[in-house]
Amino acid sequence: MKQRIQRHLERKSIEELIVGTQSDHGHGLMRVLGPMQLTMLGVGVIIGAGIFVLTGQVAAQYAGPAIIISFVISAIACAFSGLCYAEFASLIPVSGSAYTYAYATLGRIFAWIIGWDLILEYLFGASSVAVGWSGYVTSFLRDFGIMIPSCLANAPFAHDPRLGWYATGAVINLPAMLVIFLFMFLLMIGIRESATFNNAIVIIKVTVILLFIGFGMAFIKMDNLTPFIPDNAGHFGEFGWSGILRGAGVIFFAYIGFDVVSTAAQEVKNPQRDMPIGILGSLTIVTILYIAVAFVLTGLVSYTKLGVPDPIAVGINAAGDQLFWLRPIIKIGAIAGLSSVVLLLLYGQSRIFFTMARDGMLPPTFTTVHPRLRTPYVTTMVTGAAAMIFSGLFPIGILGEMVSIGTLLAFVIVCISVMVLRYTRPKLHRPFKTPLMPIIPILGALISLVQMIALPKDTWLRLLIWMFVGFIIYLIYGERHARKKPTKPKDGPLIS
Ligand code: ALA
Repeated sequence: MKQRIQRHLERKSIEELIVGTQSDHGHGLMRVLGPMQLTMLGVGVIIGAGIFVLTGQVAAQYAGPAIIISFVISAIACAFSGLCYAEFASLIPVSGSAYTYAYATLGRIFAWIIGWDLILEYLFGASSVAVGWSGYVTSFLRDFGIMIPSCLANAPFAHDPRLGWYATGAVINLPAMLVIFLFMFLLMIGIRESATFNNAIVIIKVTVILLFIGFGMAFIKMDNLTPFIPDNAGHFGEFGWSGILRGAGVIFFAYIGFDVVSTAAQEVKNPQRDMPIGILGSLTIVTILYIAVAFVLTGLVSYTKLGVPDPIAVGINAAGDQLFWLRPIIKIGAIAGLSSVVLLLLYGQSRIFFTMARDGMLPPTFTTVHPRLRTPYVTTMVTGAAAMIFSGLFPIGILGEMVSIGTLLAFVIVCISVMVLRYTRPKLHRPFKTPLMPIIPILGALISLVQMIALPKDTWLRLLIWMFVGFIIYLIYGERHARKKPTKPKDGPLIS
């Protein structure tokens, strides 16, 4: 029994991990990224369905104009966790991100928990953003008279906290499945998300958002912003302060992605210095943009009308004919912007599965690299197939809440891990140190936990079921096959 517990808590050696990244063994990744590109990468993966879709849903269902406060609360939680991520990413710049941090500090079982939990962030994340993409594409095509039947562009199932699950009458969300299929294919044949391509998308995305803020500002009606905090509707989480908290838990989705910066660690020229800049820089930029968008959007149109798949477009409509020209531009920007998030999340998930399989936590076939294309096509296919199913069947609200709760849990574990490592290995050289130890990680963990607690009961239930299934898989497979040293990928190194 004692031996078994020891095996669950077996850790990876930090020194070996660091040496491994210095020699880049087995990966052959090139160190090409600097602080600016890292920040752009962060902004590229952060800005997506959160701001383009969920802002409207959260304002309509939970917080009203006070969604601005939800954004601030969520930003604080992210900043604290971001500081902890920055410490880890500068200390152990490896591509496994939170999974590897947990393996090095808390032990194998925690690594599994976080690896399994990260599926919620990446795989469900890609699925939810694909649903957001589908909403904007359908609406864009409609403007040109091309109608995609609503039964083929919506989820067949939806969930209402009071009524439970119900059939929507739709059959499947085909555009969402299609975009996942397309990117799965691109990732399989090895079209890498090049920094230049990402920079172009980021510029389009940010420009569109700035246009919305700049031109929308002039059309704000103060009436729409009052009452700023709508009265609670009688239930926890439906407006009032509890609604703001629940809103923070859900809109947290909009900030997800800054941790993806840490997965690029092995491709950064000077990770020790640049990782913190990339993580915290991108977080600061998006926080400012989000608060401004939330203010303009809820000022342009009553929050009660924002529970739609394309709220930013609805905001522009409300400004009348004068901003008509901006409509297609906003939609094209949103479609391009959402595409890059789907691509990056699918990419991140396939790499995490790959890393876990190399550690023996998943079957060896997951380490297969295509002999000619040099891509981990098995994990890419598994990721893509699962994401297609989720995006085809479920609405963005349900998927997004799963992503939020899963990522918040990862943040709690990362904040705790940073503290544990400070006390167990105080002498390690840390190029970036989380300030005000242990206050920042404790607050980071606590605020993340409060946001989790404010999420709907059903989301918790789904998280528990998800973790339970993961635990069973760990006991049946991971525990027996896990090893401390990674295996070599099958069929040679990866190039992307
Ligand atoms: N933060 C990303 C988005 O909002 C996941 O789409």
